[in-house]
Amino acid sequence: MIIAIDGPAASGKGTLARRIAAHFGYQCLDTGLLYRAVARDLRAAEQPLDNVEAAEWAARSLDPATLDDIGLRHPGVGEAASVVAKIPQVRAALLAFQRDFAAQEPGAVLDGRDIGTVVCPNADVKLFINADVEVRARRRFEELSGRGEPVTYDRVLETIKARDARDSGRADAPMSIAADALLLDTTNLDIEAAFDAAVGLIKRKIGQQD
Ligand code: DC
Repeated sequence: MIIAIDGPAASGKGTLARRIAAHFGYQCLDTGLLYRAVARDLRAAEQPLDNVEAAEWAARSLDPATLDDIGLRHPGVGEAASVVAKIPQVRAALLAFQRDFAAQEPGAVLDGRDIGTVVCPNADVKLFINADVEVRARRRFEELSGRGEPVTYDRVLETIKARDARDSGRADAPMSIAADALLLDTTNLDIEAAFDAAVGLIKRKIGQQD
């Protein structure tokens, strides 16, 4: 069983993916961490983010054991990840790891931008999670200021809009809604309501009763 979850930054897809995986007893992969780790390793090697050769090397030599590095959660790393994610060689280098992860029994949940369209086009269930950009910016602002980061709402909004444009505007595997994806808009939902709605959609799709 493969559950693909895509959506833009701060849509709630990561939290939903973890909760859905725990609910069904599946493994969960936040694929954004792979791109974040490539950006981290490039920076550590003092290479610019647009150095294609160095970026491909970083993607090919990525150590999955380093994906729980807390530094990957930093907002600047998310921005840098969005830049390296434009490089086709980086995307190609990360594909096999994601597909192997997805093939695990009894099932896997993967969240990202291109899971339903490119990584797992045959996923059993595809969800596309979205929310109004102002609501996403508000959530991200509250999360970051709660952690003591020196941010303003306006700056977070601007950054999220730029990231949406970069992630959906790139040539290779842009963020897009798979033709057979189920849409979930979390604008007016808290995490509990979003989780209930997502589980309902998944159960209907796989033919389980509530
Ligand atoms: O989900 P996130 O914010 O951790 O992702 C960071 C960046 O990585 C995102 O802006 C674009 C890129 N990404 C991607 O291109 N494809 C994915 N499947 C996941 C993330």
